[in-house]
Amino acid sequence: MPGSRDIPKKVLSATTALYPMPAVLVSCAGDTGGRWKQNLITLAWAGIASSEPPMVSIAVRPSRYSHGLISSTGEFTVNVPSAGMCDAVDLCGNVSGRDHDKFALTGLTPAPAQTIRPPIVAECPVSLECRVRHRFAGGSHDLFVAEIVAVQASESVVDAKGRIDVALVDPLCYGGGVYWRLGERLGTYGHSRK
Ligand SMILES: Cc1cc2nc3c(=O)[nH]c(=O)nc-3n(C[C@H](O)[C@H](O)[C@H](O)COP(=O)(O)O)c2cc1C
Repeated sequence: MPGSRDIPKKVLSATTALYPMPAVLVSCAGDTGGRWKQNLITLAWAGIASSEPPMVSIAVRPSRYSHGLISSTGEFTVNVPSAGMCDAVDLCGNVSGRDHDKFALTGLTPAPAQTIRPPIVAECPVSLECRVRHRFAGGSHDLFVAEIVAVQASESVVDAKGRIDVALVDPLCYGGGVYWRLGERLGTYGHSRK
């Protein structure tokens, strides 16, 4: 294997070059002007923050309509769309809940969460119900770090042992302004030690 000196590199300006990212649908809800409203926002800046307790982080610009809803309740759901839901995911990331009912617009179905008020998205194979525990003002985005308090998964993606089969989820990925789907399965955790 060549040393790093032999691999030509270009120094680029600092940017969020971490690929791939999940493209998720986050649902939120809140009382706006005496009316209970629910909304969907597409996020790619989402990740796991802890396993015990299970926690996720999402980065949301304060200008987003969803930012106000999440701040008001401290609750949201992270819904993992399959690659076939790419059009709906893109739409939810290009219009605002200030002007549109995104469930009506996309035809996606809100279904009750087990533990919190915002709905899950029935068509998404995996949904995480989350309660905000920490909030950090970063730069352009605020980071909400939330405990995953319940998980719902479609029966069609859960195996006999109760584990979620990622291949059946067929999750939608995002990177470089492009939507992707997962490709080949390369190995399992720890396979290099065998
Ligand atoms: C693929 C994709 C990823 C996005 N990721 C984020 C993100 O991580 N954080 C964010 O604040 N906005 C993100 N956006 C933009 C919001 O989804 C978009 O501004 C949306 O219309 C906001 O909706 P709202 O005003 O109803 O909250 C993303 C959009 C797309 C299409």
